[in-house]
Amino acid sequence: MKKLFVLLMALSMLAQINAQEKKIFRISTDNTDLILQVAPNGRLYQSYLGDKLLNEQDINNFSYAVKGGSDGSVSTRGWEVYPGSGAEDYFEPAVAITHYDGNPSTIFRYVSAEQKEVKGGTETVINLKDDQYPVEVILHYIAYPKENVIKTWSEIKHSEKKPINLWRYASTMLYFSNTNYYLTEFSSDWAKEARMSTQPLMFGKKVIDTKLGSRAAMHAHPFFELGLDQPVQEQQGRVMLGTLGWTGNFQFTFEVDNVGNLRVIPAINPYASYYELKANEIFSTPEFIFTFSNNGTGEASRNLHAWARNYQLKDGQGDRLTLLNNWENTYFNFNEELLGELMKEAKHLGVDMFLLDDGWFGNKHPRNDDHAGLGDWEVMKSKLPGGIPALVKSAKEAGVRFGIWIEPEMVNPRSDLFEKHPDWAIHLPNRETYYYRNQLVLDLSNPKVQDFVFGVVDNILTENPEVAFFKWDCNSPITNVYSPYLKDKQGQLYINHVRGIYNVLNRIKDKYPNVPMMLCSGGGARCDYEALKYFTEFWCSDNTDPVERIFIQWGFSQIFPSKAMCAHVTSWNKNTSVKFRTDVASMCKLGFDLGLKELNADELAYCQNAVANWKRLKSVILDGDQYRLVSPYDGNHMAIMYTAPDASKAVLYTYDIHPRFGEKLFPVRLQGLDAKKMYKVKEINLMPNKNSNLAVNEKTYSGDYLMKVGINAFTTNQTHSRVIELTAE
Ligand code: GLA
Repeated sequence: MKKLFVLLMALSMLAQINAQEKKIFRISTDNTDLILQVAPNGRLYQSYLGDKLLNEQDINNFSYAVKGGSDGSVSTRGWEVYPGSGAEDYFEPAVAITHYDGNPSTIFRYVSAEQKEVKGGTETVINLKDDQYPVEVILHYIAYPKENVIKTWSEIKHSEKKPINLWRYASTMLYFSNTNYYLTEFSSDWAKEARMSTQPLMFGKKVIDTKLGSRAAMHAHPFFELGLDQPVQEQQGRVMLGTLGWTGNFQFTFEVDNVGNLRVIPAINPYASYYELKANEIFSTPEFIFTFSNNGTGEASRNLHAWARNYQLKDGQGDRLTLLNNWENTYFNFNEELLGELMKEAKHLGVDMFLLDDGWFGNKHPRNDDHAGLGDWEVMKSKLPGGIPALVKSAKEAGVRFGIWIEPEMVNPRSDLFEKHPDWAIHLPNRETYYYRNQLVLDLSNPKVQDFVFGVVDNILTENPEVAFFKWDCNSPITNVYSPYLKDKQGQLYINHVRGIYNVLNRIKDKYPNVPMMLCSGGGARCDYEALKYFTEFWCSDNTDPVERIFIQWGFSQIFPSKAMCAHVTSWNKNTSVKFRTDVASMCKLGFDLGLKELNADELAYCQNAVANWKRLKSVILDGDQYRLVSPYDGNHMAIMYTAPDASKAVLYTYDIHPRFGEKLFPVRLQGLDAKKMYKVKEINLMPNKNSNLAVNEKTYSGDYLMKVGINAFTTNQTHSRVIELTAE
């Protein structure tokens, strides 16, 4: 036995030495291998991307992956990891550069590589350089073994005599060779976020992109699912999930080439962004994050959820605050006294915080509707004579925390700010200005504007250190696209604008590391993993009709953990019960945005109980493993559950949406339980004086039974829901 071990160790070391000599780089998680290899021509190629190989020595078996030639000839065309423009590859390049002398070609060759341990995983850094021009690219890959996630980005720099122009700058390029490819994309619009649709990828290109600048994901979200060989399914099949961390214009290109291979190219959208890169300036691409599963999207999503909570999401391990918001209750019509009442209502409801929304600022141009005041971040004295300090005090007296809405990247032309600094707003000098929601986007490429935006948060927190939360909104895309600051360098605007936002967010995070913030963009038009380094959560949609929310939350859950997804109970779709609305919001981070006076005594008591239940179970709902059991896209029902990591507790949500008369019902088979444990089943979130009619209520079953046989939880009632708690005995 000992001898065998020594032999295996020796073989493994030999394989590694071999690999080093052959310059093979293995980027591995517990389940996936990405193998890159330097060919004799000095260029770097992708040899393999797939299930993890069991035998170390097998990584030496790959040829140089020069797979392009349909005539079988050996050519330099192939699965080059970071192909440049202007040479012999006729498909989309990863990078395209016009050098200082006008030469449009770039070919990168291997220089050096290193691997190092980083939080949660191993980072592989590979340096490549053009041998004709002093241009370098540094490829970064962080593999997170346990979560089976790889995060990759690139850096481009040069020391040419003059600036070079970048016109393509992908984060990476990945290659696939399968019989068929199916893309699931997430289209969007106001109140229609995260709509999933699937299509086959045939020869040619499919592009998903956005050109909206600030409210960037209004029409398309920066993530996708790829079904390899077959369309994605929830519980089976080989799938890849990918997402780009970029809070601006992004572009995913899926290109099926002449021999049926697929290239996936995630990037900043090069649209109108011909980027002039100065010598020694580093152009960093956004992070592209991806995971694989052979068991469908459910497992792949759980990989991303766990990874996000562990390493990417702001305060991913921390708690979240339940809240009462005043937006849909009062809109712009409130005063100090009314807010004081609402804070007491928040306490009565049992939530942690009162969140004051839009309409609290502006004096010369009071923000009493959405036509004026944006940019003037001082409290409106006529409405709130005691300022924020009085509100913080009232909240304290009521026994809740206080949070506040801001939209600091925007300006109304009717504002002091615009009167003083018209050149701080992005707008064209020589054309009629087009206004989206009566506002313009501030030019975050301008450092003075960055200082101003930082100041919005800094001033509030300096005066009121007890402000516990910000809802950071962004309602307009970039319109009238011209930066007065950048002048003849307009090609930098879209990119430098986003970098300006990150500068501001970094300063806020450095100075106020513990203040939670919600990312909002006229609903869910900003939702990416770079922004979520700074935000604890995001607002999924202004659409809080529970029927619609079932679909929207299902969509976002493909990529984001419930902990990051805010869901509020409102009065959208009053045809549905308060219980149904609350049960839908309860599957994510729970909040309320309605007047409690609208509720009758039973409804209020129900909500109080639902809040208490949610708080009691939030460690399972927010930090447990999510299993999407029944898709609303497949019929008239939906079911989802969360299981504690040790399988001692689980929460099941079932929803009947619009079942048909006499429809055949089927049991909901659970997942993620311990087959050997016995679980007590208990329906919770019941209306006062209402007993559960669930046949299995208060009974005990094995995890095995619950997963194989299931629970008959669905009904033929319209918009009906159940929340079921399972406790291991
Ligand atoms: C956006 C948000 C809403 C609300 C309003 C305020 O539409 O999505 O939740 O904050 O702005 O103007």
